[in-house]
Amino acid sequence: MQLHARVKRRTIIEPFKVKVVEPLPIRTVEQREKILEAAGRNLFLVHAEDVTFDFLTDSGTTAMSAAQWGAMMIADESYAGSRSFYRFEEVVRRITGYQHVIPTHQGRAAEHLVFSLHAHAGDKVPSNNHFDTTRANLEQLGVEAVDLVCAEGKDPTTEHPFKGNVDVGRLEAFLVEHPGKVPFVMTTITNNTAGGQPVSLANLRAVSALCRRHRVPFLLDACRFAENAWFIKSREPGQGGRTSRDIAREVFDLADGCLVSAKKDGLVNIGGFIALRDGAWVEGLRSRLILTEGFPTYGGLAARDLEAMAVGLDEVLDEAYLEYRAAVTRYLADGLARAGVPTVRPPGGHAVYIDAHALLPHIPAAELPAQALAVELYRAEGIRSCEIGSVMFGRQPDGSFKPAAMELVRLAIPRRVYTQAHFDYVLEGIAELAERRATLRGLQIVSEPAFLRHFTARFAPVAGRA
Ligand code: F0G
Repeated sequence: MQLHARVKRRTIIEPFKVKVVEPLPIRTVEQREKILEAAGRNLFLVHAEDVTFDFLTDSGTTAMSAAQWGAMMIADESYAGSRSFYRFEEVVRRITGYQHVIPTHQGRAAEHLVFSLHAHAGDKVPSNNHFDTTRANLEQLGVEAVDLVCAEGKDPTTEHPFKGNVDVGRLEAFLVEHPGKVPFVMTTITNNTAGGQPVSLANLRAVSALCRRHRVPFLLDACRFAENAWFIKSREPGQGGRTSRDIAREVFDLADGCLVSAKKDGLVNIGGFIALRDGAWVEGLRSRLILTEGFPTYGGLAARDLEAMAVGLDEVLDEAYLEYRAAVTRYLADGLARAGVPTVRPPGGHAVYIDAHALLPHIPAAELPAQALAVELYRAEGIRSCEIGSVMFGRQPDGSFKPAAMELVRLAIPRRVYTQAHFDYVLEGIAELAERRATLRGLQIVSEPAFLRHFTARFAPVAGRA
């Protein structure tokens, strides 16, 4: 406690020391220019070994601890009844309070299982914001995925502490308007789609009370549950004296179950689970699990993956880790602000989003400013980011172009992978880039598939201006 208080007034340090290292891939600008040419300026088509700082996603990219690797070595790889499953089950029960634990190979497998059994064509499922995979898994069943995030969550500049909150008034009206049509209500903690923004305890209590009143189950998309608990502890009045573990437990107590991609706050490279308070759905889910994922004591994973999750789920609730984790995105966002690079405010738990439209006002949406910025971040600095703008959302079903609401570049931060010196170097590079922002030019698409074009489209500099 003493040490923690003393450290707090000074630099927030990485609360780990490094035992295993791998080389940081370094390429020259000339090499990266050739790589970009070959990849059609699409960063999904660049090999990871040519990327110096990989901020494409925080999912499955965690550095595991010595304790996790150690646990993997003593895993029990029995087909049925593995000791590793019971260890994993004990940890999930202890953290969530949910009795019924069903492992899956990742988050979307958990979504597919629950939705395919408990949501039907014509139903509607509200959430703050559905993540892409929950939305797609609902929509392919003919279920409407409805986003009811609060107004602040849609404004990238307001400094509201809980921009992931559900608009409770709209949720209440929605439940009144569609009786019998809502199989369950969801809330994503933290809200990835709106920038990794947290949901407050007060808001979760209100959603829970509403669901109980309307007798509708309440499910959490809880893959960043520990980051959300930390934000409640550090931002919500009256919560600062509690542990993140205690807060996380209260959050789980408010819901009836959760779907989890453990590739985020499970601190693992693969894994996920469903956990439920009530047993009514369990037999059906386990039968379907056997059909699609595997026997209920391994659910599409090796027992060593269950061991790594069991250790990771406890490690992630360490207060020093969570303090460091939140400090990383804040450090990056504050450094970018000093360099005159605007980001979505406040920074979320797992990522910082650069506002490419504000940074590059001379590049119109039709010339894909966020993609142009992402490509330049790679060309000049070896940074891989993800465009969330008109490349991802601009193509209409009829093939025409409509600008996305925002032109963002997401820098998602892998857990425990990069040091403060790495972030200093990244900030120096982006500051240099910002100084010559006026020289950046737009891009045009030279080939694209009909769906999900951001994964495979190819780009070229806008004709005549390259
Ligand atoms: N829910 C949320 C909120 C997510 O962010 C993700 C994945 C999933 C569900 C699906 O989990 O990948 O294990 O199947 N998000 C990653 C990202 C891919 O980059 O934001 P999964």
